[in-house]
Amino acid sequence: MNWVSQCVLLVIRSLPFLILTQTGDFYPQQIKLSWTGTEHQLFVTWVTYLPSQSYLTYNPIVCEAAGDGYLLQGTSKMFNAGSEAVPRYQYIHTATLTGLTEDCFYEYKVGNRVYWSTTFIFKGKTPDYSPPYDYDSPFTLIVLGDLGIGPIALGTKELLIKDATIGNFDAVIHLGDIAYNLDSDFGRGGDFFLRMIQPVAARYPYLTIPGNHEHSQNMTHYRQRFKMPDNEANEGTGYFYSWDQGPAHFILFNTEVILSSSHQDSNMTQWNWLLEDLAKAASNRQERPWLIMGTHHPLYCSLDFLDDELKPDCSKEAYKFQALLEDLMLEYKVDLFFQAHVHNYERTAPVYRNVTVISEYDTDHMHINPRAPVYITNGNAGNREGHNDVLSRTPQLWSMCRSEVYGYGRLKVFNKTHLYYEEVSAPYSEVVDYVWLVKTENDR
Ligand SMILES: *[C@@H]1O[C@H](CO)[C@@H](O)[C@H](O)[C@H]1NC(C)=O
Ligand SMILES: *[C@@H]1O[C@H](CO)[C@@H](O)[C@H](O)[C@H]1NC(C)=O
Ligand SMILES: *[C@@H]1O[C@H](CO)[C@@H](O)[C@H](O)[C@H]1NC(C)=O
Ligand SMILES: *[C@@H]1O[C@H](CO)[C@@H](O)[C@H](O)[C@H]1NC(C)=O
Repeated sequence: MNWVSQCVLLVIRSLPFLILTQTGDFYPQQIKLSWTGTEHQLFVTWVTYLPSQSYLTYNPIVCEAAGDGYLLQGTSKMFNAGSEAVPRYQYIHTATLTGLTEDCFYEYKVGNRVYWSTTFIFKGKTPDYSPPYDYDSPFTLIVLGDLGIGPIALGTKELLIKDATIGNFDAVIHLGDIAYNLDSDFGRGGDFFLRMIQPVAARYPYLTIPGNHEHSQNMTHYRQRFKMPDNEANEGTGYFYSWDQGPAHFILFNTEVILSSSHQDSNMTQWNWLLEDLAKAASNRQERPWLIMGTHHPLYCSLDFLDDELKPDCSKEAYKFQALLEDLMLEYKVDLFFQAHVHNYERTAPVYRNVTVISEYDTDHMHINPRAPVYITNGNAGNREGHNDVLSRTPQLWSMCRSEVYGYGRLKVFNKTHLYYEEVSAPYSEVVDYVWLVKTENDR
């Protein structure tokens, strides 16, 4: 054989390999769901490494409408997950599912009509923003924070996938510090994380807010990769949003723009929105008695206070947020506040200005008609930094439970009067703490 035919042979031999590689880059990955800010809708987002058309097919199953199939066309944008010098492009696709009903489950797949993902199934229940409200279907949200990739996160990932497989919850709230980091290794860190949680996020809304690990490049990775519920103020940033679910109103907001002077505009917009949203929630309190907030930085936690300068998270920084938010939260009667950032688990009694506020009736695991918010720290999902936050040896009087297990919480809202929270350790789901909040009146 001469060298020309050798070359031809080589090309022909490597053709299947080339085609397979190409297919891999067309193959949809990092598939996830999120609520949209409108009833009966879900956002679906996914990624391909090559430019590709955005299609989604779905059909309702196990309900009256079963059998109707739909094909949707979505949109896509190019995202440079690398740097300017070393670009690493990917294509982020979004499609909006509409007309979902809670009677149905739906199966769907995404792709470009040649290459499709596998099929995923989700339940068609979405937040109910307008009456009639569904008070009597208890729901469960997973609450976690500071979850990354790597060996320390494995237990939590395993438990999360088990919980998802058996349908043990309705959505996940991730309180910032995602992947460690979304931008690491030219964005490969974020890609890896989003593939890791796909078995969960492709079936349940995965709701996020930014933490300090999302700061790089003006939070570009966060804004590009996560499509969160829209509202009139957030301009699609996913920085802050709220939703109504059964008898509860949820508000997730962003402590990063409050702390950092490079987000003045977003900070002001968020603040005005927050005041408006709290007022709106107050006007509807008879219908939705539970008011629950969440963010990344904590207001109350008990790290080793001897390390004040080194670790201001539960002291100087926390006091800043207390000064800004506490009176507001008391005025609007916030019941429960989820926070992360500190890599352990802690639950407080109802507390205001560093003092425990007595409820109508209290035990270690129950507060009946509490008169101040309970704070729960959920920064213990696991990431490469491990438990780098030493718990205080002299915990404050309001500290009800502290633990260094890895895991997360399950929040169960039963009805207008009963709410339950449990903290479980990964990967075996042992309950390490729990609390009931009970409300027989709504006039604290
Ligand atoms: C950072 O992102 C925000 C959107 O959150 C944008 O309004 C702002 O202009 C960006 N700042 C810079 C310096 O690019
Ligand atoms: C962000 O807004 C809050 C509320 O107005 C304010 O207290 C805080 O100082 C602002 N943060 C920055 C960095 O300007
Ligand atoms: C909070 O209260 C405890 C007593 O429970 C006290 O030791 C501590 O100094 C107080 N901290 C602040 C910042 O007031
Ligand atoms: C609310 O849920 C709790 C816990 O399941 C239950 O004990 C209580 O009876 C329920 N209340 C109403 C009014 O259904």
